[in-house]
Amino acid sequence: MFTFIQTKDGSPTLRIGRPEDGGEPMHSLEGALSETRYIYGDALLKASEIEARPRVLSVGLGLGYVEILAAACFLKAGLSAAECGGVTYELIDALRDNFVNWLRDKPTQDAAFKQAYDTILEGTANVSVPGTSPPDEIKTFLRSMIEGGSWRLEGPLSVSTKIEEPFGCICFDAFSSKTSPDLWNEEFLKTFLTQASGERCVLSTYACTGTLKRALIHAEYALTIRAGFANKRDSTFAVKHAQP
Ligand SMILES: C[S@@+](CC[C@H](N)C(=O)[O-])C[C@H]1O[C@@H](n2cnc3c(N)ncnc32)[C@H](O)[C@@H]1O
Repeated sequence: MFTFIQTKDGSPTLRIGRPEDGGEPMHSLEGALSETRYIYGDALLKASEIEARPRVLSVGLGLGYVEILAAACFLKAGLSAAECGGVTYELIDALRDNFVNWLRDKPTQDAAFKQAYDTILEGTANVSVPGTSPPDEIKTFLRSMIEGGSWRLEGPLSVSTKIEEPFGCICFDAFSSKTSPDLWNEEFLKTFLTQASGERCVLSTYACTGTLKRALIHAEYALTIRAGFANKRDSTFAVKHAQP
């Protein structure tokens, strides 16, 4: 069911299922780590720097690139594991279980998962956030957030998910609308963004659909349309400012 693929910057991505059955890789084959850094790095750094207690909402754990990068950004900003955190939604139990096992230095389903997480951690420490901490420190920090309950790993996001707190940063990294149509539906996005966005919030995503843009404007975001990563056309970076 899981196929690991090495992308062009040497970092791994994962495909679930067979391409002929609609299975899509989780990241650009041009570079999973580079794509994560490009799409989510600025949002995570900005939230870490401007919020006293930054909280991140991540949609789609996948291989945990966003979570590892968030931990690196929090550490860079001099925060403690209790002062920051987030919530990640992920449909597939095995992805959550493998990630937590790896964080706790327990065996993963197979060696390829551990190897992938180790590569992502090394890459994040060395390349993604200049001046960041060594890999072990980032991993310990993330484990402390998860074990201390300041970062929670939840099941799938859906129309019935109750969002219980506002966030200062949203990394919306769901599969495409072809694979996960419910998460790109305009009505869903409007409700989700209204509930999940703090008074000040920054949202980043690799996507740039009309429904997303309308939902972001409805939720009082100002949009910046950026170039997409590699061969993708556009991506979206949106900021919601505190009301005076
Ligand atoms: C593009 S990948 C995310 C990659 C990830 N951000 C990373 O850093 O590796 C999309 C992920 O969304 C998950 N997913 C699909 N439907 C979902 C849902 N309804 N709620 C949460 N996650 C979902 C998939 O299982 C997959 O792991």
